[in-house]
Amino acid sequence: MNTLLYEEKTGDFQGIALITLNRPEVLNAINKEMMAELNQVLETVQSSSTVRVLVLTGAGEKAFVAGADISQFPKMSEKEAIEFASFGQKVFSKLESLKQPTIAAVGGFALGGGCELALACDFIYASEKAKFGQPEVNLGILPGYGGTQRLSRLVGKAMAKELIFSGKIIDAQEALRIGLANHVFPQASFMEEVFKAARLIASKAPLAVAASKSAIEKGYNLDLKEAFAVECHAFSKTFGTQDQKEGAQAFLEKRQPKFIGK
Ligand code: COA
Repeated sequence: MNTLLYEEKTGDFQGIALITLNRPEVLNAINKEMMAELNQVLETVQSSSTVRVLVLTGAGEKAFVAGADISQFPKMSEKEAIEFASFGQKVFSKLESLKQPTIAAVGGFALGGGCELALACDFIYASEKAKFGQPEVNLGILPGYGGTQRLSRLVGKAMAKELIFSGKIIDAQEALRIGLANHVFPQASFMEEVFKAARLIASKAPLAVAASKSAIEKGYNLDLKEAFAVECHAFSKTFGTQDQKEGAQAFLEKRQPKFIGK
């Protein structure tokens, strides 16, 4: 791959996969090739039976992703813009609907498409240096990779409107305060902390984690009664798994469970 790195960790970090958006000379801006490669690598993650948690991050010191590659914009027609936005939305939705939990590790600028990419992950961990924003209005456009929708669902309509209308850039503490980032870690130990958190999730029963993710996602836009039915169904299905038997048995035998993802 030319624009991103993909690694499945081993040893203590077995079960964790890492995607590094890798165009540091342009702050990891997403061009056509990177979007296509991201689409491809997400297929690999989706079909993997060994990846339990996916972490996304950006190469270099400065950025997670500083947005879509602006050099594509001057000549883009309205028709091409539809293709551009709909393919990006499709890829980010593929990321959002992965069975595995996904963490955006934002250690620098997450702007425009970069913020939208982070929003398509299950949650965001920020370093002290992280900066977030949807500055598209500076370019005479608006977020087109799901930002108007995911940002408003996550931080509320009024906060999303303020960020998108003003194009302003906020720091990690502000992102934490408004609920955009789940946690802010010190710069020096940032990726170490992210992997520690990922390892904790990777150590849990994978089918139970995946079913939790799916129940939250499916139920989120339903009314509560229907959403409870989704949860009830997902809960009952876990009782058909070997990991459920192992989890209960290990507790009763006062030992650590050994989950196999079946
Ligand atoms: N698309 C294409 N190139 C980008 C880019 C983007 N989204 N973001 C940064 N770059 C490039 C810069 O053009 C520069 O290239 P150069 O060295 O050939 O001049 C390089 O990355 C480094 O960026 P630079 O602007 O010099 O760094 P900075 O620290 O001064 O500023 C930012 C950092 C993030 C504030 C600034 O790069 C920026 O505003 N980027 C665009 C953000 C944006 O509008 N994103 C939404 C796009 S829809």
